[in-house]
Amino acid sequence: MMLLTFVVLLTAAVPSALASGTTGTSDSKKLVLGTSADFAPYEFHKVINGKDEIVGFDIAIAKEIAADLGVELVIEDMGFDGLLPALQSGRVDIVISGMTPTEDRKKSIDFSDTYYKSKQVIMVRNEDKDKYPTMAALENEKIGAQKGSIQETIGQKIPGVKLTSLDKISDIVLQLQTKRINAAIVEDTVAAGYLDDMIGLAHAVPDEEQVAAAIGIRKGNTELLNAVNGTLERLKSENKIDQMVTEASQLMADREVASPNIFEVFRQYKSFYATGVGYTLLLSALGVIFGVIIGLIICLFRMHDTAILRWIGTAYVEVIRGTPMLVQLMIIYYGLSLTFGITFSALQAGILTLSINSGAYLAEIFRAGIQGVDRGQLEAARSLGMGRAAAMRFIILPQAFKAVLPAIGNEFVTIIKESSIISVIGMVDIMYQASVVKNITYQGMNPFLIAAAIYFVLTFILSKLLGRLERKLSASDRR
Ligand code: ARG
Repeated sequence: MMLLTFVVLLTAAVPSALASGTTGTSDSKKLVLGTSADFAPYEFHKVINGKDEIVGFDIAIAKEIAADLGVELVIEDMGFDGLLPALQSGRVDIVISGMTPTEDRKKSIDFSDTYYKSKQVIMVRNEDKDKYPTMAALENEKIGAQKGSIQETIGQKIPGVKLTSLDKISDIVLQLQTKRINAAIVEDTVAAGYLDDMIGLAHAVPDEEQVAAAIGIRKGNTELLNAVNGTLERLKSENKIDQMVTEASQLMADREVASPNIFEVFRQYKSFYATGVGYTLLLSALGVIFGVIIGLIICLFRMHDTAILRWIGTAYVEVIRGTPMLVQLMIIYYGLSLTFGITFSALQAGILTLSINSGAYLAEIFRAGIQGVDRGQLEAARSLGMGRAAAMRFIILPQAFKAVLPAIGNEFVTIIKESSIISVIGMVDIMYQASVVKNITYQGMNPFLIAAAIYFVLTFILSKLLGRLERKLSASDRR
């Protein structure tokens, strides 16, 4: 606990400039919007003037709300099923994501008046157009739906289905294309964007029942709720919402077909990757720095004379090494926030997880290094009249450091690669951006090959630099 507090304090000291960006939390001059931008024409990514932008009629509505409130709109794109926890924990102020105000959701958040209605449809591959004349025909079929959505609930009720729930609609569309599922449940407005375009999807069973979309607001935030309803009222009376839907549908329709050439894809989306590289480097650099600090402390604990400290050190290493980093990340990002009200931004949670994790591995590396130095060295130093500390500093540690440098280098390379896990909480790193590009282009190979190439270049440069340092340090050995 003490260590955790320590790291928390350290990361809190990271200048807030670093912590902002895509990870802003609520403050008075900003309205932080949570959305899952995979839902054209509601909200989706679009390259406008070479830059990635989130557009759609939900976004247009959000802009009107922000304008009416006289605040700046900040958009946070995340998985649909992360929206409720994000709103509850105060990470976002408002959720506009084509969300249906269901009874279940009303238990945890409040909803505005509804602003749009749609129906459910089943999407299939073109060749299966006539295969499913009714909903009942989907029995025992492999189907897909968005995780946390009402479509998932609908799917779960069909007898015998094998349901695949994924974060993003485009992931489900890719599953359909690659024949991992045979049908997907989506909303008609959204399906319209996919039908008859290059993917070759058709829509089969329509469902007559209409569902509505409303805006989610944290419970008890009546002031914002009233403001939002006010804006919706105004937009409806000016007939603006229909107009926004039409505009968004047009934006959705004129999407460019991505080139199959990987260099072309890179050229077109390089700004996405550039942002990703920035965050990956920031994340890994801070992860390494705090990781080394934690590693040193834990190493000292593990080698301490006091049994209790040794025990704490060992427990730390065993627990952290013995549990998956993804699980640790979920606990830090969602767990602490929902249970204890300690809310970290995605960047903070990412740095914390990486440092805690690499701290455990580095502690072991440091210990191995120190214990690897021959006992005789210490004895010789002591007999020459050096104190314990001096012997450590001038005799033991330099040798230990040299010996474990390759292992430390390995750990740094690992951190760069593992930082890709942080993308699941919406940290805009290389991996995250690769998925965004995948979602825009519907290409499964190029976006990831580009990401792989970038990671490789980063780790390769790092290992060359470390190799150089190693050679420099071992120069004295060869004399
Ligand atoms: N209306 C459905 C629901 O509330 C699906 C909404 C999905 N929205 C999104 N942005 N992906 O569950």
